[in-house]
Amino acid sequence: MKNFKVDEDLCVLCGLCAQDCFYGLIELNEYPRITDEQKCFECQHCLAVCPVGAISILGNSPEDSMPLKGSMPEEDQVAALIKGRRSIRAYKPEPLEPERIQKLLDVAWHAPTGVNSRCVHITMMDNPESVKKFSDEIYSRLEDALKENTIEVPYVANLFKMACQQKKENGVDILFRGAPHFIVVSAPKSAPSRVADMNIFLSYFEIMASSMEIGTLWNGILKRVIDTILPDLQESLGIPDDHELGYAMLFGKPAVKYQRTVERGEARVRRVEWGS
Ligand SMILES: Cc1cc2nc3c(=O)[nH]c(=O)nc-3n(C[C@H](O)[C@H](O)[C@H](O)COP(=O)(O)O)c2cc1C
Repeated sequence: MKNFKVDEDLCVLCGLCAQDCFYGLIELNEYPRITDEQKCFECQHCLAVCPVGAISILGNSPEDSMPLKGSMPEEDQVAALIKGRRSIRAYKPEPLEPERIQKLLDVAWHAPTGVNSRCVHITMMDNPESVKKFSDEIYSRLEDALKENTIEVPYVANLFKMACQQKKENGVDILFRGAPHFIVVSAPKSAPSRVADMNIFLSYFEIMASSMEIGTLWNGILKRVIDTILPDLQESLGIPDDHELGYAMLFGKPAVKYQRTVERGEARVRRVEWGS
């Protein structure tokens, strides 16, 4: 049941809900109604587009939504957010307040997904003590793997050798960077756009985090550890068997402050034309 409801006192029969429905499932008889609920993929465009706030769906009413008029940031503010975001490789040890983590996750959860599958599965380690224990276990097992020569690809073995050395000799943890929290995203192998969905989720997560002065780091090294070097960790982390691993991302209060954007020049675009 999609629980599609129209407030007949408000509805002006403008038809915008019907026009904007991907599958054209909304019919305007007397008032709008969904013809085939099975096909509705719950995008909620009908609720979002209604100019008079007459439509509710899935238990969400217009009053639960954030009005968009006057709420949008200026384009230069968005540009500053995107260009001013940095990979954070130094974190303060203290944890973020749980409500801030929840807000960050909830906003990123609004990222688009193919056919609105919302298939992204978030595994979060938010307890800094757990992160420390997890890190210690990984380093100890990496040391064993290096001793036993079980990391087959030479450049990967060298990378982890360097990581273990840095940790031992200089106390620098290139895997966790002192972050108090991390997430790993995964998605069912059956989900149609899973790779894009997972990466988009993390991109939204990091941009929202940046706006909240929360640092993030895409972590290819940790992803490789969990995915291929110590794959049993997937099960230990409770990542379902039938899932593909997306990526890992550290987050927490940054211990470094950037003063300006970096400039990367104009986008490289190859413009094409078709026909004559
Ligand atoms: C998919 C991906 C994987 C990354 N993996 C790592 C990593 O394992 N360790 C690290 O320190 N940085 C990692 N980075 C951060 C990049 O090095 C960084 O984005 C790049 O140097 C540009 O810096 P900026 O993010 O501050 O603009 C990764 C970034 C991406 C997008």
